[in-house]
Amino acid sequence: MTAAATSVEGIVRAAGGHVPSLLAQVEQRLVALAAGHGPVLAHHAGHTIAAGGKRLRPLLVILAAGPCAAGRAELIAAAAAVELIHSATLVHDDVLDSASLRRGVPTVWAQGGRAPAVATGDLLFSRAFSELTAAGSLEAVQALSRATSALAEGELLQRQDAWNPAVPVDRYLLRCELKTARLFEASCQLGALAARAPAGHVAALGAFGRGIGVAFQLLDDVLDVAGPAALTGKHRGTDLLDGTVTLPLIIARERDAPLAALDLRTITTADAAEALCDRIAATGALEASRERALEIVEAATAQLAPLALEPGQREALSLVAGSVADRQA
Ligand code: IPE
Ligand code: IPE
Ligand code: MG
Ligand code: MG
Repeated sequence: MTAAATSVEGIVRAAGGHVPSLLAQVEQRLVALAAGHGPVLAHHAGHTIAAGGKRLRPLLVILAAGPCAAGRAELIAAAAAVELIHSATLVHDDVLDSASLRRGVPTVWAQGGRAPAVATGDLLFSRAFSELTAAGSLEAVQALSRATSALAEGELLQRQDAWNPAVPVDRYLLRCELKTARLFEASCQLGALAARAPAGHVAALGAFGRGIGVAFQLLDDVLDVAGPAALTGKHRGTDLLDGTVTLPLIIARERDAPLAALDLRTITTADAAEALCDRIAATGALEASRERALEIVEAATAQLAPLALEPGQREALSLVAGSVADRQA
């Protein structure tokens, strides 16, 4: 395993062994699960899966399980299920955020409109749970259900706080936890459950996942300001345009008094959003946000220290933590 493996592809290559072939099986399963249910849904669900994505959550399931669980059918089911939940939330999120670009291609909302996007997201949610139920672990279904409920709460919290630039940092971090980190937590828990790990081990891996998940969302919010779209596959300033107040803006407002007085509702065009992104970046808020994310990743990685893991597992999970801390896309 090399320290240079900071991209998800790099981690998969470095982890080697069972990991690439398990991810290939997950990919096949995702394509099969998205098919059917009428031409419109099959088209949009298939398009969502085919557009790719980093597949970070299935990777976490596989790495949290470790090599000994590699042959278990429920591992593939769990990995496919978390990616389906993730994809479902993205399809719905793009409706809520009025986002036109996702994974470098037009969103379902932009292509088909609101109703097909809502229905496609619902279908993907339903396929996720049917897949996981077939694998037969009630605990796994409960873990994924908790994460999915948290996601809904998180998206609602974001809407409730929209346009309010005075959101406290703790409340912002809670939003990151609910809408993103709980699914990372569930991914690690599902992997550990597939490996039949004891409860303490499942909980510690879950805590690791939750921590890196918060940092992942925080850095997503940094990337929304930093761009570039060619790297992120999403337009720069999307959060600002839909009133989503994130840590970079919270910090920038503390450092730039006229910015603190700015009414976000006056930012209505992509150009204005880009200009505001530049202004936020000029305060050093992106670096400060990255530092905060790094601290959170370090605390998450410390959760792994006391665990007895299989050979290579600690390094692979640490590489994921490193790739989150170093996130550029
Ligand atoms: C995007 O997640 C949504 C967030 C939680 C920030 P990813 O960045 O993992 O999306 P894909 O799957 O790679 O497209
Ligand atoms: C994450 O938030 C979305 C979900 C967890 C559903 P964002 O709204 O920041 O995600 P992107 O930037 O659209 O991928
Ligand atoms: Mg969004
Ligand atoms: Mg974002």
